[in-house]
Amino acid sequence: MLNEFKKLAKDFRVYLRAFTLTDANTSHDWRVDDEMIEGSVGRKYFVSPDYEKKWVNDVIFSPGNSLKLAVCLKENHQHIGNAYLDNVDCFNQNALFGLMIGEKSQWGKGIGTEITLLMLYHAFYEMNLKRVYSYQLEDNIGSIKVHQKCGFQQEGVLRKAVFKHGELVNLNVMGILKEEFDQKVCEMLKGQSNNRANNRGRE
Ligand SMILES: CC(C)(COP(=O)(O)OP(=O)(O)OC[C@H]1O[C@@H](n2cnc3c(N)ncnc32)[C@H](O)[C@@H]1OP(=O)(O)O)[C@@H](O)C(=O)NCCC(=O)NCCS
Repeated sequence: MLNEFKKLAKDFRVYLRAFTLTDANTSHDWRVDDEMIEGSVGRKYFVSPDYEKKWVNDVIFSPGNSLKLAVCLKENHQHIGNAYLDNVDCFNQNALFGLMIGEKSQWGKGIGTEITLLMLYHAFYEMNLKRVYSYQLEDNIGSIKVHQKCGFQQEGVLRKAVFKHGELVNLNVMGILKEEFDQKVCEMLKGQSNNRANNRGRE
């Protein structure tokens, strides 16, 4: 799978890296942005620059059972978002995935899909996990679509599971198994080579 995934990810516009202490300066702005909070599963809370620094500090020095990474653009190394594998459960070989593109100018360009695939590869092939799951607000169509595109299956709905905008709302649950990820990568590679062949035919 390594070779197949390398081929697929060759033209990705983003890469993942460890957090550095100065990342808090960038991510603080995202954390207090209402539109960002709107789409996320978490509740609205007030985040000072100092709190964000502590959050980044903890991510670096006390990660516990989670892996949190910064997402950067290859073209200029700009930090544009964060990606997470939380609740990493080595015994049951699963983890909870989450992502956030903080730089709104990068929404709607397929970058969420690239981030998800990079994190899934890491989860399945570097961390030896077998299942990755994720929660989305039922009205976060963009997030649900990104997960679907990457091969996640609908697993259920947690009814009235989070308090959002003054009411309890449902949480969508999606999950992907390692073999489903492998299949998706092969499908995507096939699509990529068909597109290349079609483009050559048009030239
Ligand atoms: C949700 C989010 C991850 C989507 O990432 P993205 O890079 O903008 O999504 P992509 O460009 O990869 O889009 C994938 C698909 O979803 C669709 N989509 C994206 N945003 C959409 C939206 N707001 N409404 C409807 N469809 C949307 C795209 O059209 C695309 O579909 P297509 O391939 O059929 O054209 C990103 O917008 C984000 O981080 N938002 C803020 C935080 C958040 O909501 N996090 C998710 C927490 S679960």
